[in-house]
Formats: sequence, structure tokens, C-alpha cells
Amino acid sequence: MEESLNSNHKNPMDNIDDWEDNLLERYPDPVEAVKEKEEFRNYVDSERLDTVKEFYKINHQYQTYDFVCEKEKEFLKFDKREMSIWEALDFLNTLVDDSDPDIDLDQLQHLLQTSEAIRADGHPDWFVLTGFIHDLGKVLCLFGEPQWAVVGDTFPVGCAFSDKIVYPDFFTANPDTMDERYNTKYGIYEPNCGLDQVKMSWGHDEYLYQILKDYLPEPALYMIRYHSFYSQHRENDYLHLMTQKDIELFEWVKRFNPYDLYSKAPVPPDAKELLPYYKELVAKYLPKKLSF
Ligand SMILES: [Fe+2]
Ligand SMILES: [Fe+2]
Repeated sequence: MEESLNSNHKNPMDNIDDWEDNLLERYPDPVEAVKEKEEFRNYVDSERLDTVKEFYKINHQYQTYDFVCEKEKEFLKFDKREMSIWEALDFLNTLVDDSDPDIDLDQLQHLLQTSEAIRADGHPDWFVLTGFIHDLGKVLCLFGEPQWAVVGDTFPVGCAFSDKIVYPDFFTANPDTMDERYNTKYGIYEPNCGLDQVKMSWGHDEYLYQILKDYLPEPALYMIRYHSFYSQHRENDYLHLMTQKDIELFEWVKRFNPYDLYSKAPVPPDAKELLPYYKELVAKYLPKKLSF
């Protein structure tokens, strides 16, 4: 009984990326806004929107300060698997077919489209690399983690939840809102303490940041760590926890976001043809194996 309730409750969305389609509706491409709105109507049917809503409902309920501490203990030991970037990509893409309906084959395409759009704009190679790997933390799904602890908007825990976070009303079910240590504007933090001191809700962003933090330039690490932190990079609602340095580096997060959201190319990039370029790029910055 517990089990069956749990599995539905754990993974309400048919596809792990449905929340990203919902992001497009919340933050439409300014260039294509008119066209997209129309296409979007046909694309995201109401049933899918309902599952995204259900997803945020449980996300907001269960992402507590204690939950994040637990997940850090569990996953920041990095004792799950040793993998190269390529093995991690394969892992994301192969398990897909049979055992896990939650992750679709588009993962590699999304990464390539993001990175190729960055490359086409002439950005530095580490920026291109960041586009190419930014979602690899989604392997968490394949370690059995529920959707609400892998994807979705991220936000600080340990202090009051911003009403700029999507579906803010769902936080009433989060026990931290009743806990006086955590339910004030600053909660356990000092004013402008810096985001490095702030625990974010657990998901693929923080996980991948922790895996890669020794290897990439700081702007790249900010893009990876905070790319789903919409209540700051889009809504600017957590300045009170940020330092001047955070504010400056968030310019990179903001620069990255349109590539993540709006880079769906009409002709999908040819993964095979691009492989040699990316092999070299990955080898330039990252060790052969990484600990997940
Ligand atoms: Fe992501
Ligand atoms: Fe992404």
C-alpha cells in the first residue's frame, strides 16, 4: 500500500523534462514569444500541466532543510559509480529505453543543442563545455531518486521560501514553514552571507557542481550550480543572501539560461559528426573518470 502510493507520489510526471516545457511557458523566448505561445497551446496539454503541478506540490512539500542535509550525506560521498563523462551520458541515454520511462532519449540532444548554440555565438570553450554537461546530474534519477529530488526549480532552504518560486502556495505543506529556525527572511543565514553558505533544494544542479567543482572556471561552476534557481536569476528575489561576487557571477547564469531554454534547433545536431570536437573539449578540462 505504502509502496504503490509512493511510486505514483514519487514520480508524477510521465517525462522528467515536462517541468522544462512548463518553464518555457513561464519564461517564453522573447524573440519567439508570439509564435511559441500558439504552438505551446497544442504542445502542453492540460493533463501534462496537471502532472507538473503535482510534481511541484510534492517538491515543495518534501524539500526541507533536513532532507537536503540527508541527501548531501548520501550523495556527496560519491561512492555510487566511477564514470567518464561519456559513460555518464551513455548511462543517461541507455537506461532510458527499457528500465526507466522517466528519462527520454532527448538528453544528449538537449545537451548538444545547448552547447552548439553557445559555440555558434563564439563563447569560450569552457562555456561550450558547460552547455554540453550541465544536466549530467540527472543521473540521480537512475540511482532511484524521485523526480522531485532531481529536477525542477531550485531554491534556498533554511530560510523563508520566496513567493517568486513557482507555485509558492504549495510550501504551506513544507514543515520548515512551521519551524521558527527556518521560516524568517534570513532563517539560519546572515544577511549577504554569500550563496556558498546557503543550502539549495537538492537536485541535479548542486550534485553536478559538487562533482565538477575542482575542474572548471568559476563562471562555469555558477552556471551549473544555479541554472534552475529561477527565483534569483529570473526574479531577483534572493539578493539579501548574496555577496557582490555572487551578483557579478550571476550575470553568467543569466547568460546561460536562454541557451538552456531556447536552443531547440530545427535540424538536430549530428552527434556523431560532432563527437571529435567534444572528445577533445572534455579531455582538455576533465579527468578521465569522475566519481558519482
Ligand atoms: Fe538542468
Ligand atoms: Fe538543461
